[in-house]
Amino acid sequence: MEDKIRLCSVDDVAEGFPCAVNPVGFIALAVFRVANEVFVTGNLCTHGNALLSDGYQEGDVIECPLHGGAFCIRSGEPVSLPCSERIPTYEPILENGQVFIRRARAQRVDENDF
Ligand code: FES
Repeated sequence: MEDKIRLCSVDDVAEGFPCAVNPVGFIALAVFRVANEVFVTGNLCTHGNALLSDGYQEGDVIECPLHGGAFCIRSGEPVSLPCSERIPTYEPILENGQVFIRRARAQRVDENDF
């Protein structure tokens, strides 16, 4: 089995336009671009049922579309209330213009309490 999960092409992700990715069996992920860097986080807000890829990106901060809480894309830490729990982050692997994460680090859907 491949040790990496392919998420998208680097070209699919523009700053301010995160890419939502739903790898089968794993939690929903979002891929972000900040200048020339790529970041991967969980896509679900920890405050409620909203997808961060539908939110508003300003530099390395993503604002949730539902109640305006926000997270640092780099660290996953909440930076604005009502969000108080971090979102997971994953080290992106860039190969041949594609974005991957390590399968061993990816969180399966049944491992939600982190
Ligand atoms: Fe994201 Fe409330 S659901 S801030």
